[in-house]
Amino acid sequence: MSGEISNRFVFFGATGDLAYKQIFPALQSMIRRGNMDMPIIGVARRELTKEEFCERARKSLEEHGGVDHLAFKVLCKNLTYISGAYQDDETYAQLVKALGSDARPLFYLAIPPDMFAPVAQHLAASGASNNARVIIEKPFGRDLASAQALNETLLKSLDESAIFRVDHYLGKEPVQNLLYFRFANAFVEPIWNRQHVDSVQITMAEKFGIAGRAKFYEDVGAIRDVIQNHILQVLSMLAADPPSSHDPAALRDEKLRVFKSMRPIAPSELVRGQFEGYADDPDVTPNSPIETFAALRLHIDNERWAGVPFYIRAGKKLPVTSTEVMVRMKRPDHMVFDEFKADERNYFRFRLSPDVSVSVGARVKLPGEAMRGEPVELINHHRTTNEMSPYERLLGDAMHGDPSLFAAYESIEAAWRVVDPVLDMQSAPLKYAGGTWGPEASAALIRGDDEWHDPVQKESY
Ligand code: BG6
Repeated sequence: MSGEISNRFVFFGATGDLAYKQIFPALQSMIRRGNMDMPIIGVARRELTKEEFCERARKSLEEHGGVDHLAFKVLCKNLTYISGAYQDDETYAQLVKALGSDARPLFYLAIPPDMFAPVAQHLAASGASNNARVIIEKPFGRDLASAQALNETLLKSLDESAIFRVDHYLGKEPVQNLLYFRFANAFVEPIWNRQHVDSVQITMAEKFGIAGRAKFYEDVGAIRDVIQNHILQVLSMLAADPPSSHDPAALRDEKLRVFKSMRPIAPSELVRGQFEGYADDPDVTPNSPIETFAALRLHIDNERWAGVPFYIRAGKKLPVTSTEVMVRMKRPDHMVFDEFKADERNYFRFRLSPDVSVSVGARVKLPGEAMRGEPVELINHHRTTNEMSPYERLLGDAMHGDPSLFAAYESIEAAWRVVDPVLDMQSAPLKYAGGTWGPEASAALIRGDDEWHDPVQKESY
């Protein structure tokens, strides 16, 4: 496909959760900024008239950011809805007709992972994917083998430059800032290694449960849903060596090197949990082995990080909704002021969501004659302005053929190698009560005088 901008937007899974929460708001916002004026075609199985589809879009906007009446009018004018099964030739015949001539479509496959390959095959067989770009949601595959098979299938009908593997965490400002902060500040890089860093923690906590997504969740679980992709991508931003330049290819290579240095997760360094009540959902199979919580210890076997534990934790129905990174430093080798408590350390805390901040934990002297001090946190709160959501940003980039903020296939493969040993475990996950930090057994994963650092709600900062 040439460097031309896509001129049709087609999303499969148009009545699904992702479309409702993210795609409609992103489309409205793009229209408002003047970045999207083209036919928009939604495809899904449900029978809906165009009016009903517009109504659904309105509801989605009401619940997610609000309706901008002018932009919504344009959105509705441009919308078409195709109802059809994803494996039915008739669906694609309708699609080809709706695309019309001179189409350079951008397809968004916001559908269950097992549908990616069949839909891609049908798009190719019907000719709909000529001149097209395709965005594939995560998880890309179910494990290493299926990711490889999916990639092969896609490459039969699409050029690599036309495939955009989405991981919306890469489109988030605070995730980009991890790289920026590390490489734009002279004081960071010299201490960003095993000589000075004691441990790194990443917590992705969500207060809500599986909120109507049990069918999807039963097929994935926490490790496939957010660890293989979002969290390992964040980790790669934290741990990669400095790229030689700002060129996206240079960063991609460094990230890949660090992905390849991640040691596959050992079952003995993992705690899986399931919140009480998960099995009450009618879409959940009795005695489901699916984890809604996972905590693990990961190792990066390279010169920079050997011996530094990376603690990762993700779960549903936890006490707060927040994603946070905590980089804990070692104690000074020579203690001039011995009041420093053994377990108290300097740290960097990156709050990635819902509010965004970067803080440094340090000690400062208390006024008075004694050389005594107290721990303080130096915080920079990020004030959001008229920022694009990750989805808006990524849709715009894919429309222009820019892959910089999409996951590189090689790193997706490397990430599957890391989680592969602990996928599809049939042992029963440990039960935990909603509103707690998961099974107590996760505490035992932490070594030495460290502990899990639980993110707190913004108000209590
Ligand atoms: C999605 C997962 O990819 O990311 C969801 O499928 C999760 O389970 C969501 O809730 C979290 O995204 P964010 O941007 O709200 O942190």
